[in-house]
Amino acid sequence: MDTNSGFVGFGAGKVILLGEHSVVYGYPALAGPLSRGVTARGEPSNKCQLIIPDALMPEQRKVLKAAFSRAMAACDEPGVKVTFNTDLPLSMGLGSSGALSVACARVLLQAAGRKGSPSEVASVAWEMEQEFHGTPSGVDHTTSTMEQLILYRRKPGAESGRAKVVESPKPVRLVVVMAGARSPTKMTVGALRERQKRWAERYQRIFREIGLLASEGAEAVEEGDLEGLGDVMNVNHGLLAALGLSSPGLDDMVHRLRSMGALGAKLTGAGGDGGAVIGLFHDTEPAVHELTRLGYRCFDSQLAGPRSEGARGAA
Ligand code: MEV
Repeated sequence: MDTNSGFVGFGAGKVILLGEHSVVYGYPALAGPLSRGVTARGEPSNKCQLIIPDALMPEQRKVLKAAFSRAMAACDEPGVKVTFNTDLPLSMGLGSSGALSVACARVLLQAAGRKGSPSEVASVAWEMEQEFHGTPSGVDHTTSTMEQLILYRRKPGAESGRAKVVESPKPVRLVVVMAGARSPTKMTVGALRERQKRWAERYQRIFREIGLLASEGAEAVEEGDLEGLGDVMNVNHGLLAALGLSSPGLDDMVHRLRSMGALGAKLTGAGGDGGAVIGLFHDTEPAVHELTRLGYRCFDSQLAGPRSEGARGAA
């Protein structure tokens, strides 16, 4: 416990490089952490409570309250008042709910006098994630907890999947740009579930192919083959579009990033009618400069690999 500010816990946002959605069906996904995320703070109190920002809509408040109740029950309801703030764009597919879950889990575990090992944090965060997403694969809160580039695979029925850390000999640098508002992840995942129930064989074929792309992408990262990784990202975007998970706004941004020199570009996260798009670049600065000039909300981030001395930190 920090005597000035009480308990503090950080949960990193995430980007999925490859394999969103198919990861829900048991195929691998490649995901890495952002240095942006959610910071939760806790002060000793006579009851366990989360202070929910006034700006949230009644439905969001209800879900958040229910999620926090599950996490506090998992920690035996320590006496702590929890507040949070974030520098992550919200509801954009960048893992804000997973980051909030991890941040709250860290504070609750500290307040409960528990060690807060990565598996304990993941287990408490998982309680909240289920309330937010219904049937999450676990990739968001696992990436947020581990803060490393991972190849993740869900274990059906289990509370966490298997995660293998993927090391890169080269910096893996992305531009992350917001391309419009989107519907909640739960809705996009649910609508896809209905389509795949109806045309199971066709949809499973595409999920399987996306899983293969995620594994190939992880190999490309390990070999320092950024062109190869970019190509896999492009193909993955095409398959997500085939699954009905892209939109004109997302497609336009993907093409814009490619025309700016991205080695690969795709939507990231749940997609649907909007959300974030990522582009892989050797040098992100010119694209960030140009997109900002054009009025887009964007930032760059290094997901893995050596960091050059004096370089700007990952965003
Ligand atoms: C959401 O960040 C990623 C999805 O694959 C859902 C999940 O993995 O739970 C769309």
